[in-house]
Amino acid sequence: MGKSNYYNNIAPIYDQTRWMTKSVAEEVADFILVLVDASPETSFLEPGVGTGLNVLPLVRLGYSVTGVDVSQEMLNQFSQKLHEIPPNLKLIQADASQLPFSDASFDVVLTVHMVHTVSNWKTFLDEIDRVLKPQGFYLNAQWITPPARMEFERYFRTILSNYEGAQESRRVDGAIEDINVENYFHNKGYRSNYLIAKEWTVSNTVEELLNFFKLRAYGLCWQVSDEVFYRAMEKFEEFCADRYSSLKTELTSEAKFEIWAYTAS
Ligand SMILES: C[S@@+](CC[C@H](N)C(=O)[O-])C[C@H]1O[C@@H](n2cnc3c(N)ncnc32)[C@H](O)[C@@H]1O
Repeated sequence: MGKSNYYNNIAPIYDQTRWMTKSVAEEVADFILVLVDASPETSFLEPGVGTGLNVLPLVRLGYSVTGVDVSQEMLNQFSQKLHEIPPNLKLIQADASQLPFSDASFDVVLTVHMVHTVSNWKTFLDEIDRVLKPQGFYLNAQWITPPARMEFERYFRTILSNYEGAQESRRVDGAIEDINVENYFHNKGYRSNYLIAKEWTVSNTVEELLNFFKLRAYGLCWQVSDEVFYRAMEKFEEFCADRYSSLKTELTSEAKFEIWAYTAS
């Protein structure tokens, strides 16, 4: 299954199975506005905008926001959050490796959990460099997975790795390690700054997390055949029953919204 199909499949459950909240997104948007010294004219582009979790507060504050995504279903989820699409928001279905904009079109380009999903990351970064205004900001961000959820996922990954067909997920992990956004932008003469926009506590019961996996909410669940997935899931449920005293056990840890901010020197 290709990435776009995966996101089309999970679009309706994307927000509920992640850990970004409306109030965190609002605080992060305020942080970004200060970081880029925004004026009312500042324009934002988020390639791989998904369901709009990150930029919705900017739209509501009246900033010009353009969201690009290859998945129409993800964009539909974004649209459904608004009564109607306001004039300051443009949503475009396109491949981010070929951005349909002229050179120097945006003051700020934001990517969140995105660079690793495109098939050719260098072409994608070329496009970001091209559409960014000369004094613009490229913000490469992610909400770091809370360690407790990371550990939970690792248990599932270990079970999955015992099945034939699960090698693909290891290849994907390998590809992620090769991506070096920092080198790329330093070589283009940008300077960078690492910032943590927000830290917050995330808490889920084991039962909730198990249900997210049963819904196949994450990429690794689609990297194996249906048969392998359901067999691994059965084992994972047995594992959780052994590992935790109750499925109501709360797993709590800290999430972070981290940003690598690049500006031309
Ligand atoms: C992990 S999600 C992140 C969504 C959003 N940025 C967020 O933080 O919630 C990755 C998004 O990138 C989109 N995507 C993946 N490859 C893409 C491409 N080549 N062009 C445009 N969008 C792409 C997917 O459809 C998905 O919506």
